[in-house]
Amino acid sequence: MRLDKYLCDCNLGTRSEVKALIKKGLIRVNAQIAKDPGMSVDETKDSVTYKDAVVAYSKYHYYVLNKPKGYVCSRRACEGKTVYELLPADLRDKLETVGRLDKDTEGILLFTDDGDLSHRLLSPKNHVPKTYDVLCEKDVSVEDLKHLSEGILIDDEMTLPAKAEYLDATNRIALTLSEGRFHQVKRMLQATCNKVVELKRISFGNLYLNDLNLPVGTGKEIECKEIE
Ligand code: URA
Repeated sequence: MRLDKYLCDCNLGTRSEVKALIKKGLIRVNAQIAKDPGMSVDETKDSVTYKDAVVAYSKYHYYVLNKPKGYVCSRRACEGKTVYELLPADLRDKLETVGRLDKDTEGILLFTDDGDLSHRLLSPKNHVPKTYDVLCEKDVSVEDLKHLSEGILIDDEMTLPAKAEYLDATNRIALTLSEGRFHQVKRMLQATCNKVVELKRISFGNLYLNDLNLPVGTGKEIECKEIE
């Protein structure tokens, strides 16, 4: 591929920005200063450096955000503050959310430009677990926990088997789902005559909010293998 494309894919900047880096002599390919943005590089063999630091090739990008309340998972600014505002500028236009969280939901939100992975994470067939910390208006009975885990009728379709257990109070539960239907947690609790007061996604597949060390509103780039 062209050197300028390689550098753009690696997030070093836009086409014109990476061309400027090349012009300044800051990019080397196999230890030689690169002069031509159109030179051909082999991402499996060639060593590319920027100011002497290796620029490892990555076609796709993965970002995890600890989403705060009050941000919509949409690019439409007319809907309010958007989660894309919280991404680093160089990733903002590249990445899409993997599924959505409601405006008033907090917690793990993934972004990627890897459509295949996104699809695999969201498909109910793959049973990728997502756990929510759910604070409810009223106590959840043991019977309700059983209903939530065995399946609840929403829009004429039963929810898939889930895991529901108490957290530190009987009105606070951890609900683990392997699908992501519209407002699913809220509607499941509503079907048990309860109401969600606060909702936080605390895990998504292999990613656990507690392990990520991300204050609310912050995020970081991660590698595909951390998600897989
Ligand atoms: N379920 C909901 O009801 N809302 C979310 O944001 C996520 C899951």
